[in-house]
Amino acid sequence: MLIRKFELRDSIEVSKLIRNAILNRDNRGYTIEQIFSICNHHSGENMMLDFDKKIGHVGIIDGKIIGVSMLREGEVTKVFIDPEYQGRGIGKQLMNLIEKEAINRGIRKLWLISSLPAIKFYENLGWKTVGDFFHEKWGKAVRMEKEVIR
Ligand SMILES: CC(C)(COP(=O)(O)OP(=O)(O)OC[C@H]1O[C@@H](n2cnc3c(N)ncnc32)[C@H](O)[C@@H]1OP(=O)(O)O)[C@@H](O)C(=O)NCCC(=O)NCCS
Repeated sequence: MLIRKFELRDSIEVSKLIRNAILNRDNRGYTIEQIFSICNHHSGENMMLDFDKKIGHVGIIDGKIIGVSMLREGEVTKVFIDPEYQGRGIGKQLMNLIEKEAINRGIRKLWLISSLPAIKFYENLGWKTVGDFFHEKWGKAVRMEKEVIR
């Protein structure tokens, strides 16, 4: 797998990958409207906004983007892996890169909003739940944090 920085031209392909990952995950606890609102939040258009404030990485296999992670200041805004490639350590690899980028930028604490099915993944990587989060459009989630140490 090749890993490189996310570029503006990846936005559409990445938004399709995210949509596929969301639609194929365990969506118990969410309504159809909430699921599609979450997909729309990760649209190619939104991805292009404030591009200069974001640091993203994409994983590529056979010329196809199969994973993405993104950091915006101290917030991890995206980690999504193509369903066909989940469970192979790629999400963990992309999260480790985010931590390295944060350390290089002097960010000591990272935070994210995790949807319910991803909580265990983050816990496995040392993240702690610090509170519930509810968004009218996206439904239930939790806020998680992690101190990053060099
Ligand atoms: C959640 C997601 C990013 C994880 O990526 P992945 O590449 O499948 O995960 P990895 O293979 O790197 O797993 C890393 C570790 O976390 C564990 N893990 C991964 N997903 C898990 C889950 N849903 N529940 C419990 N543990 C999980 C793995 O067992 C592995 O443990 P190990 O290091 O002890 O072997 C990916 O499955 C995904 O895109 N899911 C759908 C979309 C989503 O929910 N994204 C998060 C948005 S908040």
